[in-house]
Amino acid sequence: MANPDGGKDKQWRVAVLPGDGIGPEVMAVTVEALRALAEQGGPDLVLDELPWPSHRWHRDNGRIMPEDWHAVLSGYDAILLGALGDPGPSSDPGRYLLPDAVSLAPLLDIRKGFDQWACERPAMLLEGAPRYLADERARDLDMLVIRENSEGEYVGQGGRLAPGSPREVATQMEVFTRAGAERIFRHAFERAAARAGERRAGQRRDRQFPLPDGGTAHAQVCLVTKRNALRYWGEMYTEVFAAVAEEFPDVATHHELVDAACMKFVMSPWQFDVVVASNLQGDILTDLAAVLSGGMGVAPSCNLNPSDRRQPPMFEPTHGSAPDIAGQNLAGPQAMLLTAAMMLDWMGEEDARAARAASRLRTAVESDLRVHGTAQRATTVIGEAVVKALEAV
Ligand code: IPM
Ligand code: MN
Repeated sequence: MANPDGGKDKQWRVAVLPGDGIGPEVMAVTVEALRALAEQGGPDLVLDELPWPSHRWHRDNGRIMPEDWHAVLSGYDAILLGALGDPGPSSDPGRYLLPDAVSLAPLLDIRKGFDQWACERPAMLLEGAPRYLADERARDLDMLVIRENSEGEYVGQGGRLAPGSPREVATQMEVFTRAGAERIFRHAFERAAARAGERRAGQRRDRQFPLPDGGTAHAQVCLVTKRNALRYWGEMYTEVFAAVAEEFPDVATHHELVDAACMKFVMSPWQFDVVVASNLQGDILTDLAAVLSGGMGVAPSCNLNPSDRRQPPMFEPTHGSAPDIAGQNLAGPQAMLLTAAMMLDWMGEEDARAARAASRLRTAVESDLRVHGTAQRATTVIGEAVVKALEAV
């Protein structure tokens, strides 16, 4: 995928979707930081702000996104999304409020519409971020949870028979395919192999994992299932995982049942490296992983289609619209900024300027966090401090 000219002439068109609640506030700060990076020799970015999906757009147009949303977003290289959901403020009972099934649908529609089959949610405990676990070793947390993002429990098939009656039956289908399993596992192993490379090169704190032949690996992939109860997809996942693992003899493997994984995420999260899980189990595990890394306020996330880079990926923080603090300039923009850094990483696979901008942005956010922690400061004040910190990196 590397571009021979280092991506010198590449212009990146980004659809900026601030969304609801704190979304526009954290996005404004992030757009400022991206513009500063672009001006300082970073990637050539076109940042087009779109007013949808949002409650406001729905109020004015009767729908959450325009009918041609897919065609419009197809014209972009990447999508950067703030937050969707309750627009807040929650103190206003008369606010224009939609059911979750309407306001959050664009998340699932966009993931599905561009076949963004891999959701990546890294968890590291940055210095200054709240540490909820008492054990000192929790500082060494360095995991990447990869969530299958296209099928499984989220296919949306099913229905309600005789709704509201005492004989009501609700069905919710789960669909797992061998092809879907194979691509997400191969992607997880590729990410693990890259992490092993970074560790051998001294760019990431080293880790050792036992290999079956007695040797040691510098990375591991842990498969999560619930195969003791949900045996059909659990068994298929186990078989496909083993077959893909054979292609990566230098990466260690492990398996956890999802309930035990929750327990071990809390007891000894430093033992995990890359974790791969189904759509729903990955959803739940990544909220837990976000808390281990300091909470939703610092947890980035992205949705990628690694098999087709022409399908725009969507970068969105794990957090929601935070209606309790919306509109008050109180939201921490760190998760959104670190999510933008993931977008620059993705661009950086083709564009050396973007790769450099990603690391500068991450360093600036980290240095601000190291000094101020998550002490209450205005969103805009943190944004300005991060832009200022860019001067030093
Ligand atoms: C997330 C969210 C969404 C999900 C919801 C809002 C549909 O929880 O991005 O993790 O379940 O995927
Ligand atoms: Mn979630």
